[in-house]
Amino acid sequence: MDVIRSVATAGAEKTDGAAMLKVSFRKTAKEHVDAVVRLINEQHTKTGSVLLVHEHEVEEWARKGHSMIAINNGEVVGHQAVYVWPESQWVEFRSAVVKEEFRGQNINYKLKSAFILEFLENKPEIGTFVAVKNSSSNGMKILELLGFSQIKASEAPRELFTIGLGQDWNVLKLDLRR
Ligand SMILES: CC(C)(COP(=O)(O)OP(=O)(O)OC[C@H]1O[C@@H](n2cnc3c(N)ncnc32)[C@H](O)[C@@H]1OP(=O)(O)O)[C@@H](O)C(=O)NCCC(=O)NCCS
Repeated sequence: MDVIRSVATAGAEKTDGAAMLKVSFRKTAKEHVDAVVRLINEQHTKTGSVLLVHEHEVEEWARKGHSMIAINNGEVVGHQAVYVWPESQWVEFRSAVVKEEFRGQNINYKLKSAFILEFLENKPEIGTFVAVKNSSSNGMKILELLGFSQIKASEAPRELFTIGLGQDWNVLKLDLRR
């Protein structure tokens, strides 16, 4: 599978900063919800690069196993969620945030890779990942390393436009069935 090859190759090329920091990765549990909401909403307030979230959304992601965190010394320093769109079954990466002082250590790359590998293994019927970005978001290169490529916003399923996706947003897609 191309995506697995790209995950393995890219990982080998870069110094494993996250491992040196002793950052661990796990699914979000109920006790992490407050910290996750704070992390995401602080980033929203600062730059608008992620959408504001409510506690009940993060609770739901956590209940479904659709939210993952990076922890350093008991502190939540990174987060990534996935949302499965009900009609198209496209899996959208949502609310990617890493605390500023922990950036550039592969943390988000690892969180995204973990979700892709989990879906490949446990939900082979799901074939498409998608990420939408506005001009304030970063992390584009991570998606390219994972094999995502840009599509026209008009090629995305109509249901994605219910979150305010505009024609000027960057939409990146990864097809796992190739
Ligand atoms: C986007 C964000 C989550 C990335 O977190 P991070 O942990 O610093 O990301 P990583 O360390 O995995 O990647 C950082 C860079 O190293 C590169 N990198 C990561 N893993 C790599 C690897 N194995 N090999 C080579 N390069 C790698 C990435 O491509 C990335 O490059 P870029 O900044 O040009 O895109 C973080 O910058 C952030 O919180 N930004 C603000 C919120 C935001 O914009 N979120 C995205 C919303 S869609």
